[in-house]
Amino acid sequence: MEKVIAHRGWSGKAPENTLSAIKLALEEPKIDSIEIDVHLTKDGVPVVIHDHTVDRTTNGTGYIKDLRIDELKALDAGSWFSPSFAQETIPTLEEVLKLINRKKKLFIELKQTAGLYKGLEEQVIHLIKKYGAEDHCYLISFDHKSLQMCMKLHPNIKRTLVLLGSPLLLVNQVNEIKASAVSRHYQYVDQELIESLNNNGTEILVWTVDQKTETERLFTLDNRIIFTSNHPNLLWV
Ligand code: G3P
Ligand code: MG
Repeated sequence: MEKVIAHRGWSGKAPENTLSAIKLALEEPKIDSIEIDVHLTKDGVPVVIHDHTVDRTTNGTGYIKDLRIDELKALDAGSWFSPSFAQETIPTLEEVLKLINRKKKLFIELKQTAGLYKGLEEQVIHLIKKYGAEDHCYLISFDHKSLQMCMKLHPNIKRTLVLLGSPLLLVNQVNEIKASAVSRHYQYVDQELIESLNNNGTEILVWTVDQKTETERLFTLDNRIIFTSNHPNLLWV
């Protein structure tokens, strides 16, 4: 296995996007990088959680955009996974940057959605700069205008364009926002995509691969593919 990104931290072993999941990924030398998802609270704090609501992964309800940081911090973000994680809270991006302390690369997925989170890009870049992590972070998003805004704010922080569906003129889009990589669901990576991105010098990431058989199939297409996984330990056995 060449390169592995722990998806939402080591989310097969601990509740996704929590400090425990991130610590486990940090401690494992075979994991190269960590991916997390970021939303903005009602009072403007970037927090690490996947969904737009807290319903699935905490004991609360409601949209992140409607909740303040103190309200989010009061929630239990671990019991849904296992009672032994009852102390977990939703981490702030700042807590995650402090914990990682540039020891591994961090893919920060901005869950921006057509401008829903005003100021998300500025806040995230401000924190990356505060912790001197510009060379250790990749900004990644399904919202390509969000990445365009990131480019304008800080062109030197790398950008990864995540694909939904089958975009036309993909290489043009990649070049427009000077993305260093493209990320796609592993089932939809084919030879045509690989060739066009390789010819453009663009790296290819795939999510979320939890089976060794899939890595082997993808490796036959291109052995430079970078894998995002919930269970990275299953890929290197
Ligand atoms: O790495 C990209 C991947 O995380 C995108 O999907 O829904 O898991 O954030 P999602
Ligand atoms: Mg993600």
